Amino acid sequence: MYSLRCIECGKKVDESSYTCECGGLLEVIFDLNAVEVDFRLDGKDMHVWKYRALLPVSIEPITLKEGGTPLYKAKKLSEVVKAEVYIKHEGLNPSGSFKDRGMTVGITKALELNKKAVACASTGNTSASMAMYAAKAGIDAYVLLPAGKVALGKVAQALMHGAKVIGIKGNFDDALRIVREVCEIADIYLLNSVNPFRLEGQKTIAYEIADELGVPDRVVVPVGNAGNISAIYKGFHELYKLEMIDRIPKMVGIQAEGAAPIYKAFLQKKNNIEPVENPETIATAIRIGNPVSAKKALRAIYDSKGLAEVVSDAEIIEAQKFLAAKEGIGVEPASAASVAGLIKLAKNGMIERGEKVVCVTTGNLLKDPETVLKVCGSPVVVGASVEEVLKLVRR
Ligand code: F0G
Repeated sequence: MYSLRCIECGKKVDESSYTCECGGLLEVIFDLNAVEVDFRLDGKDMHVWKYRALLPVSIEPITLKEGGTPLYKAKKLSEVVKAEVYIKHEGLNPSGSFKDRGMTVGITKALELNKKAVACASTGNTSASMAMYAAKAGIDAYVLLPAGKVALGKVAQALMHGAKVIGIKGNFDDALRIVREVCEIADIYLLNSVNPFRLEGQKTIAYEIADELGVPDRVVVPVGNAGNISAIYKGFHELYKLEMIDRIPKMVGIQAEGAAPIYKAFLQKKNNIEPVENPETIATAIRIGNPVSAKKALRAIYDSKGLAEVVSDAEIIEAQKFLAAKEGIGVEPASAASVAGLIKLAKNGMIERGEKVVCVTTGNLLKDPETVLKVCGSPVVVGASVEEVLKLVRR
């Protein structure tokens, strides 16, 4: 029903590999003529495993009921950008980020392949999600984090769910390079997004958008290691090939100014990135200089006639505050990058009046309380009396 193929040379590759002999990334290719699609895009009962016919596993899934996240119509944001804007709030998945969609598939695949341990490098969310699903599956989990550069909520999750948490004196790109080698040597299943099965779970974001809304004109996604935008594009592409939708939305990737290799490649119309040596941004989740799925992401952007954009830390925080205070949607900084990007594009006249846009907000506000205190300040403290409190109440 499906095979694993190299995106560079097209060679068919064995399920236990992560990359082709030629170094190319792998992709799960379904024989869409043979797939029996048993779900309808009717907006009902949405969750990852509704789309099981298009998910490459053969055993009962390890699931914590991921997906089925709300798609909010963002009224005030729509007014600001003069478009019809929706927020797909992935921060409401079980571990608080979109990673759960990939992990339910990735961990299930690990069991299918008889693996006893899993590992990942992470800017935080992947580790939190992997630790949670490994706990549910009863297998060991190892996570490598850039020491001191991961939001507190994410570290707390990885620790509490029982993963072995290892801080690396380096950045995410160093951690990923190391964990890839360690997995090879110690026969551990690697669950970074270089693993094509994880991306299969994440493509269900596209399925759910199509399921609930139909096809928007544009989908805006924050980009770090570049797996998610690639996965979402793949999801739309499959539905299109199956003739379940009649077009594919423009894929828009937003990076942080200090960590923007994909944006730079896009500006130069290239298919390859030049890694950024010392990536830096307040949005630590996307503080990545050498995104592993860059080629897939650029293909998604070019093929969908989309684009890439960058936003500053100040723009990210402004968008985070706007979403929280004006729309009631609490997201972490990296997630707000998608909204900051949309606002910037609209200011520059790049968004057509009234077009239908979905911004994917990838992680929950609670993930990064330290940044909140930095940008909002701490609560006021007063004496324990009605008078003291009344001084602060508007009357
Ligand atoms: N938003 C959040 C909240 C993330 O945690 C990530 C990635 C992204 C966006 C970017 O997604 O990497 O697929 O382009 N976080 C990874 C991690 C790298 O380790 O948690 P991407």
